[in-house]
Amino acid sequence: MEKVAREIQELKVEKGALILAHNYQAEEVQLIADKLGDSLGLAREAIRTDSEIIVLCGVDFMAETIKILNPEKKVLIPDQTATCPLANMVDLKKLNSLIDRYPEAEVVSYVNTTAETKAHSDICCTSANSIEVVRSLSKRKVIFLPDQNLGRWVSKWVRDKEIILWPGYCYVHQELISLEELKRLKALHPNAAVIAHPECTPAILELADKVTSTTGMVNFVKGGEAEEFIVATEQGLCKRLQRENPNKQIWEFPGAICKDMKKITIEKVLDCLKREENEVVVRPETLEKARVPIERMLKIG
Ligand code: 13P
Ligand code: SF4
Repeated sequence: MEKVAREIQELKVEKGALILAHNYQAEEVQLIADKLGDSLGLAREAIRTDSEIIVLCGVDFMAETIKILNPEKKVLIPDQTATCPLANMVDLKKLNSLIDRYPEAEVVSYVNTTAETKAHSDICCTSANSIEVVRSLSKRKVIFLPDQNLGRWVSKWVRDKEIILWPGYCYVHQELISLEELKRLKALHPNAAVIAHPECTPAILELADKVTSTTGMVNFVKGGEAEEFIVATEQGLCKRLQRENPNKQIWEFPGAICKDMKKITIEKVLDCLKREENEVVVRPETLEKARVPIERMLKIG
């Protein structure tokens, strides 16, 4: 493993490549990345870089977003089958009929969507800025895609908007992070602060001391006074939190693993960097349309 990591470092310098990794990546991948982040942080990182080759360790919609923001660069993903089931829950035909039904509404797409869905949207958001994005809109009606838990969370904080929810969800946060398990963890660790991702169910969010994006959690644990944290999100982030806060105790949800995030291995990173294969391609017409809502989001905050 050390040999693979060393080879990646050498190749990266030789090719002037940048490796970006999402906070849910396996620890071995986190350790070889130039930058770790949440969806918003990775998108911002991608527009700052001069590197001509960007390797995105994460799932397809993240790589597509980076390609859309950097159409002239080579964007590679170590495993092209790494996808996000939540992002794939939008059916374009149904979306078009919803837009026809509510022509007065603005369409807000969570960044966990395909490029095609983004191309049908007015603005994007991530878990880090969803409330600010919806507050910034001038229209009262909003079609919010595709995560219903995140949409409900936003509607709790933005009372003057009517939010039409899409019935999508993330199986990790909806099914693998249960209220029963949270209650069990709280009983075992009564002094722990509970931090939760807004894709969790309302019952979990109700009991959380902090609801935020994955990088929001990194900052909260680092700056927080608590010494123990129950972390209601995917386990990859818990590995980062424990590594960066060795004096604090991180309690994770057993089994809360995103299978697609874990398809990326350092062997695959090395292979794709070596061969410069697995390039992300977005149709030019879709790319141009999808760039508008992403750039509109990036101007906020
Ligand atoms: P973040 O943008 O908070 O990192 O979340 C992305 C994601 O896929 C959550 O499941
Ligand atoms: Fe998609 Fe859920 Fe995996 Fe995030 S954790 S990438 S929302 S399936």
